[in-house]
Amino acid sequence: MCGIVGFIGKGNAVAAVLDGLETLEYRGYDSAGTAFFSNGGIEVVKTKGRVADLREKLPEGISSELAIGHTRWATHGAPNDVNAHPHASADGSIVLVHNGIIDNFAELRLSLGDCKFKSETDSEVVAHLIASVYTGNLLAAVEAVLPRLDGTYALCVMSKDNPERMVCARKGSPLAIGVADEAIVVGSDAVPILPHTNKVVFLDDGQVAVCDKTGLTVRENGKVIENNITEIDWSAEAAQKGGYKHFMLKEIYEQPQGLTDLVHQRILLPKNGEPVLNMSGIDIDDEYFRGVSRIVLVAQGTAYHAGMVGRNLIERTAVIPSYAEYAADFHYRDPILDPSVLVIAITQSGETMDTLQAVRSAREKGCKVISVVNTVGSTIARESDGVFYMHCGPEIGVASTKAFTAMIASLYILSLHMAQVRGTIDEHELRRRSQDLLQVGPRVEAVLATANYIRQIAMRYVNAGNFLFLGRGTGWPLAMEGALKLKEVSYIHAEGYDAAEMKHGPIALIDENMPCLFIALKGRRYDKVISNIQEVKARGGKVIAIASHDDDAIHELADDVIYIRAESGIMNSIVCAVPLQLLAYYIADTRGCDVDKPKNLAKSVTVE
Ligand code: G6P
Repeated sequence: MCGIVGFIGKGNAVAAVLDGLETLEYRGYDSAGTAFFSNGGIEVVKTKGRVADLREKLPEGISSELAIGHTRWATHGAPNDVNAHPHASADGSIVLVHNGIIDNFAELRLSLGDCKFKSETDSEVVAHLIASVYTGNLLAAVEAVLPRLDGTYALCVMSKDNPERMVCARKGSPLAIGVADEAIVVGSDAVPILPHTNKVVFLDDGQVAVCDKTGLTVRENGKVIENNITEIDWSAEAAQKGGYKHFMLKEIYEQPQGLTDLVHQRILLPKNGEPVLNMSGIDIDDEYFRGVSRIVLVAQGTAYHAGMVGRNLIERTAVIPSYAEYAADFHYRDPILDPSVLVIAITQSGETMDTLQAVRSAREKGCKVISVVNTVGSTIARESDGVFYMHCGPEIGVASTKAFTAMIASLYILSLHMAQVRGTIDEHELRRRSQDLLQVGPRVEAVLATANYIRQIAMRYVNAGNFLFLGRGTGWPLAMEGALKLKEVSYIHAEGYDAAEMKHGPIALIDENMPCLFIALKGRRYDKVISNIQEVKARGGKVIAIASHDDDAIHELADDVIYIRAESGIMNSIVCAVPLQLLAYYIADTRGCDVDKPKNLAKSVTVE
């Protein structure tokens, strides 16, 4: 949460920072601000609202070769001009942007005696503290203050005396630093750095970076260490809308290609002989997988729903008792763990604080952790024993779409690997499932070809006040994901339930004003789902069904039917996610909602 950008070097630093902030707005968009050198001093311009509002406030013709910027997701203090970052010390000598939470800020404020504070934020105190020990050496002052800060931070600091240097520090909140030919570019993640370079250093906790016009120096425990550069394979264009009205729509449409690339990189099907699964990143020997007694999948948000599907995949193929749970609860409960328990962390950003905490507590208890991650070099990827990268390109829309389907495909491949190693599926079954998975791209493509029809259905529900999503088996997590998508982008209240649970409560809500979307694909639980649909119809409810392409009968029951080509059990869950995403998108867009930046949400939740 909160996006930080810094730029020092040849070029227009303020323009680079503003462009960078725009790409980071998915991390928070309550307020925005920037600081730069002008007429021999530091000028700070900040505002409630978006980066577009900040642009309007900025004077013309600024030419600074150093600038820092921030886009905020408010934690301490209302989203207004004063609480917006950057924050400055009372004498204006030190100016900084901060992402994270300084837990002991109240105590630190008191320690500064009469010092006048302008904002209600926890961040401002850091600027005052640095100024209080500053005697002309910014690095020394920052390093002196860091041990006094409890909590989490990614900091980017500049001083009035030195237009040639900014100092950054990280503890608990991510910070990436791009090393371009003639500039150093800082970002909360790699996305704002990509237009300048793909050579990125991801700071580790406790590290401090000195960004000079001449280059980057990383320090740890007061000593200079080697720059650990990662080459990012995302292009700058991948983080642009590319002609689509919204990132969410673009990312929905990226799924066929992204999924095709993912499965073809991982599954090799020789004409003769067993399928070969490429498990690069999971450098864990087979003996370990044979001894796994239990699997816990930990995640938050959409990733948790993918984890629920993953649990079914693993139990069915690798035959290991598994369950999915919210990472936050896993961390704060006392889960019963031992080294034979494998923890799988699922996260698009690789930075979600709750998931990171779960990873750390699992490893402390001796468990191995495999993470399924999109963002290369992210904290969770680096702290895991093995990482399965989804490589589905930057996901900018706050509502996760392509990462969800890529997570399910990744978990499927991982479960097939474990099944192969443990001998719980034979070669024939492995080949059948692999062949199926290799078809995922065209199947999703076929759903997208019906987008206009789905849009027409969506138009009939734009004024709904509530929605129920219901499904059984893997249809249940999909129902939860469908409800989450709808509520986060359209602000229609929506609940996702196991359809079997409907009669234990939600059925009380059903009347002609409560549309119910059923995931009603043919399969083991089909008849039960049909009974649930009948129960809704008997109470006057409206039903939208997502049904198998060859289900002629369901038309008699449901008010609206979205057919998908669904043939192969678990892979259906990937295909089925797509109409849910489109439905939410079209309803939200028609209601005039800001689809890519829903109110109060942030893409990457790096606070607990
Ligand atoms: C936030 C986002 C969701 C996402 C969740 C987990 O709530 O708005 O879209 O699913 O975080 O994020 P992760 O990066 O861990 O997958």
